[in-house]
Amino acid sequence: MKTPDWHNRYLLQARWTKNLRRFIFDKLNATPGQSVLDVGAGTGALYEDFKSHGLKPCGVEIDFDRAAYASKLTKDVPTINADGYRLPFKDRSFDFTFCHYFFLWLKNPRMVVDEMVRVTKKGGYIIAAAEPDYQSRIDYPELFGSIGQMQNHSLRFQGVNLSMGRKLGWMMREAGLNGVHLGLLAGEWKRPVMDEFEAEWDMIAYDLGGMAPMERILEIKDEAMQSWLKGEATVFIPTFYAHGKV
Ligand SMILES: C[S@@+](CC[C@H](N)C(=O)[O-])C[C@H]1O[C@@H](n2cnc3c(N)ncnc32)[C@H](O)[C@@H]1O
Repeated sequence: MKTPDWHNRYLLQARWTKNLRRFIFDKLNATPGQSVLDVGAGTGALYEDFKSHGLKPCGVEIDFDRAAYASKLTKDVPTINADGYRLPFKDRSFDFTFCHYFFLWLKNPRMVVDEMVRVTKKGGYIIAAAEPDYQSRIDYPELFGSIGQMQNHSLRFQGVNLSMGRKLGWMMREAGLNGVHLGLLAGEWKRPVMDEFEAEWDMIAYDLGGMAPMERILEIKDEAMQSWLKGEATVFIPTFYAHGKV
């Protein structure tokens, strides 16, 4: 997948958590002008949203192409091509240190939490806005069950920790954060529309690539689409959020 395709995927994920981000920043009394570091910022899909809260974002991203894409797309937000395990900032630099669909990709997320704590001001907050728990997913009907199993298999192969979500709260508490709040993103299933199916299917198809022959994937797509459009499909991947005070 090319970087602009990743960007579209990240924009879609960003839509799922838009209300949650507002809820968290309001709850933590974020005020205009405060700084937020987005660790594992990807293509900078969340930058405009941070700005809409009046916050001053800065991103760190390990993938060179994504960091370059983010810098080009949002010129007024610095994106640094660096590793979350060694954040290139002085201690106590940011009001908020944030991540979104990030810890699940790491071998040792706890070490990165420690780095996030280091660069956050005393009294500032660490926010993990979306960490899925693929291991406890709900996929209905049976066809979606098989798709879910294949997707999980592929994600595990890509190095994803499929049960990151359930570990998030304990990880933040263990890192010594105060007043850790752990929550779960609720699901809502509106009238199914084709556009949404296509967008979600693009993500699934990417994960299924190599797991089955192309003709089979196209067959599955057709069956999945029928089920989705008639309103039968219910797919829910429990996705946790947490925040804690430094
Ligand atoms: C699923 S993406 C999410 C991107 C962005 N947070 C978003 O929600 O749009 C996870 C990102 O973390 C980046 N990443 C993985 N390991 C990293 C590390 N050690 N340091 C910094 N970024 C990392 C990946 O390259 C990828 O762009």
